[in-house]
Amino acid sequence: MRKLLILVLVAVLVVPAALIVAQDDMAEIDCGTDEEVTISFFGDPVGTNGEAEQATIERFEAACPNITVEYAEGSASVTDLLAFYLTAFEAESSDIDVVRVDVIWPGQLAAHLLDMNDYVSQEHIDAQLPALIENDTVDGRLVALPLRIGFGMLYYRPDLLEKYGYDAPPATWEELTEMATAIQEGERAEGNDEFWGYVWQGNSYEGLTCDALEWHVSATGENFLTSEGEIKTTSEAAIDMYNLAASWVGTISPPGVVSYQEEDARAVWHAGNAAFMRNWPYAYVTSGESEDIPEFGVAPLPAGASGSGASTLGGWHIGVSRYSENPEAAAAFAIYMTSVENQKLYSIQSSNPPAALVLYDDPDIQAALPFASTDIVQITTARPSNFSKDQYNAVSTLYFDAVHSILTGEEDADVAMELLELDLQELLGQ
Ligand code: GLC
Repeated sequence: MRKLLILVLVAVLVVPAALIVAQDDMAEIDCGTDEEVTISFFGDPVGTNGEAEQATIERFEAACPNITVEYAEGSASVTDLLAFYLTAFEAESSDIDVVRVDVIWPGQLAAHLLDMNDYVSQEHIDAQLPALIENDTVDGRLVALPLRIGFGMLYYRPDLLEKYGYDAPPATWEELTEMATAIQEGERAEGNDEFWGYVWQGNSYEGLTCDALEWHVSATGENFLTSEGEIKTTSEAAIDMYNLAASWVGTISPPGVVSYQEEDARAVWHAGNAAFMRNWPYAYVTSGESEDIPEFGVAPLPAGASGSGASTLGGWHIGVSRYSENPEAAAAFAIYMTSVENQKLYSIQSSNPPAALVLYDDPDIQAALPFASTDIVQITTARPSNFSKDQYNAVSTLYFDAVHSILTGEEDADVAMELLELDLQELLGQ
C-alpha cells in the first residue's frame, strides 16, 4: 500500500514536472519568425521513414504554432528524387522549402541550398559526427545539417541457419552463396515456391551503386574511383566479384532482382520469403514487426577477396532551398529536425542511427539500435561524391549502368568494366 502511495505521489509530482520540462524545451525552439507561414518539407515515403518525419513535424508545429509544415512525399528512388529536385531548383521554384539531402549530394546541390552557418549555433554543429559536417561543407558553406546515417548490412534468419546446420551468418560471399543455395533448396522442397536465398538492390539506380561498391571494395580493398581520382574498375578480383553477383540473378535471387529497389527486397524479406537481405538500418524496426519472420539478426556484409567486407555509407541530411520565400521558418524547421532532442526520437521510431555523436552513449538509443556505433563512419566506404562533387550523379550513373549490364547478362564483366574506365576518363577529363 505504501509502495503504491509512493508511486502515485511520484506520478503526481513528477509527471507534471516532466510536462513542464517538455514545455520549456519546446519554448527553447527558435521558430525563426513570428509571422504565420506555411513551408513545405519533402520527406521520405510513408511506410519507410515518413511516419517519423510526420511526428517531427507535429512536435515542431506544437512549439511553433505560427508555422505550418506541409509534408510532401518525395520519391523512394534517390535517382528520381535528385532529378525532381534539380528540375525544381533550376526553375528557382519557391514550392520547395526544406529538402532531405542524401549524403552524396552536398556537392551536387550546393548552388541551390542556403548556408546553414547563417542560422545554426556552433553548439548544434559540434554535436554532430565531425565527418558528416565536413561532408556537408562545400567551399566553406554548410549546405545541409546531418540527421541520420545509414550503412549496408546483412539481415539474416537465425531460425533458418539453425535448421540447415549453420552456426553463424556467412563470413564470405562464397559462404553466402552456398548457404543461400542450401536454404532455398530446402525451403522449396518443403513447398514454399516463393522462397529465395538472397534479396538486394539490383535496379539501375543509385541503390545499385551502393550494393556494387560493397562488392567492389570487399573484392579489391579500394573504391572504383579513389579519393585521388584514380579509376580502378578493371582489376581481376573486381571482375570475379561482379561475375559472382551476376550468377545470383535467377539462382539464389529472383530474376526480377535486376529491377529491385530497397522496398522490393524488403517486401520479399518481410513476407518471410528470403534467407538473407542486404538493406539499410531502416528495415530493422519493421523486420521486428513482421509476423512472417520468426527471428532475425543483422551482421556485417560478407568479405570478398580482399579479406574484408565493406559497407557503403548512406544517410540523410536536411537542407533549405535558396529559393524559399520563408528561409527563417524553413531553417528553424531544419534545425529542430536535426537537433539532438529530435534525432533521438526520430532514430528510435525509424531505426536509423543518428548523426549526433552524443546519442551513441544514450541507453535508449543503444537499446533501440544495438547494431549502431560511432566507428561506423570510419569503417564504412563513402561513395566518390566528395571527389566528383556536382559530377557525382554522372559518375554514379555510368557505374550503375555498367554493373547493371553485367547483372542482366547484356555485357561481359571485363568488357563492361573496361568501357566504364573509358567513360569515366572522358567524363572526368583524364
Ligand atoms: C539509402 C541511403 C542513401 C542512398 C540510397 C540508395 O537511402 O541512405 O544514402 O543513396 O539508400 O538507394
